[in-house]
Order: sequence, then structure tokens, then C-alpha cells
Amino acid sequence: MNFLEERIAKDGVVKEGNVLKVDSFLNHQMDIELFDEMGAEFKRRFANENINKILTIEASGIGIACIAAMHFHVPVVFAKKSQSVNLDGEMYVAEVESFTHKCKNQVIVSKKFLSPDDHVLIIDDFLANGYALQGLISIVHEAGATVEGIGIAVEKGFQIGGQVIRNLGYHLESLAIVESMDPAAGTVNFREQD
Ligand code: G4P
Ligand code: NA
Ligand code: NA
Repeated sequence: MNFLEERIAKDGVVKEGNVLKVDSFLNHQMDIELFDEMGAEFKRRFANENINKILTIEASGIGIACIAAMHFHVPVVFAKKSQSVNLDGEMYVAEVESFTHKCKNQVIVSKKFLSPDDHVLIIDDFLANGYALQGLISIVHEAGATVEGIGIAVEKGFQIGGQVIRNLGYHLESLAIVESMDPAAGTVNFREQD
């Protein structure tokens, strides 16, 4: 197991409905030393990509993206989520279906902060069905910018998102890929990675 898988095994809590709670170290209380290790690992895995910007989405992606950005020496842009509103043309917008909350949201980035010159690393905490991620990808394309890679902390390998994104040809790196979880035993099984 790598450092993140070990931490999930130790402090993650498996809930009914295939939900993994990691709020003691990842997406409520945040262990910044762990984030720093994650940032270093993203830098190692994307060493061959020429990245000048990190894009993430509020809320839980922001902390991870900011610490990762210290390793890439690039700015972070976070996409904002809102209920559908009228926009004035100054924004890139993607419609995103929320599987969990059964509603449609807009993901929004100002046109000031993404342009055709940008080579973007997308970062997020979880990858499940990947709808939020597809929204971010479509915004990068709308800007004429390039997706150089996608870095995820925890991928739920039994949901469809990871497969869809890899089949589209993106360089997707997930630091931990959960294959299955057992709520009764409280155990998490991870996919082997090199
Ligand atoms: P997706 O299609 O974008 O992959 O997401 P999905 O609708 O399946 O999940 C909705 C939200 O729940 C997302 O956060 C996602 O990161 C998070 N999530 C999905 N599975 C798990 C899980 O097992 N454990 C935890 N802790 N989170 C999970 P969000 O509400 O859109 O963002 P945020 O505001 O929390 O950052
Ligand atoms: Na998230
Ligand atoms: Na989340």
C-alpha cells in the first residue's frame, strides 16, 4: 500500500451505500503534511507534462490543489458551483448532473483565468461517476486550453468515472483506487498500481 492507501485503511470509515468517509484527514479536517506528500506524488507522476495552471472545483478540491500547486509553482483556479443562473458571457459554463443530490448544477469559471495558452492539470479529491470532472474538461476545451493531466486523490474504481475518462485518452492518475469496500468489516480493498 502507498501512503494514501495506508491512511485510508487506518482512518477512513466505510459507510453503507459505498460511501467512504475521509473527513478526518481529507475533506473536512485536512492533514496538510499528507496533502504535501500527495502534491509531491502528483509532481512525480506528471513530471513529463508541461503544466502552467491547476484547475479544481469547490469545495473539497481546493485544499489539495493549493498544496499540489506549491510543487508545480503554478496558480490554482477553482470552478464555482451554482444552481442554474443567467450568465453574462464573461464565464465558461458546464452543466453537471449531481448523482448524489439529484439535481443539475452549473460549473463556472471566469474567462479571465483560462485561455488557449493554458496547459492544465485538473485536480479533485474524489472521482466517482466523473460528472464534475467532465464539466471541468469541457470548460478547458471551451477555453481552447489543453488538459495535460488529471490528478485524483481517491478514485472509486467500481463506479464508471475512471473508465470513461481513461477511454477518452486522458492521462488520469489516482493516488488510491478503491476496488471494493465492506461496511460490516470496515475494510477497503485497493487496485494494485505500479
Ligand atoms: P461525480 O459524478 O462528480 O464523480 O460525483 P458524484 O455525483 O458521484 O458525487 C457527489 C459528491 O460526493 C462529490 O462531491 C464527490 O466528490 C463526492 N463523493 C462521491 N463518492 C464519495 C465517497 O465515497 N466519499 C466521499 N467522502 N465523497 C464522495 P461534491 O459534493 O460535488 O463536492 P464537494 O463540495 O464535497 O467538494
Ligand atoms: Na470534490
Ligand atoms: Na466531496
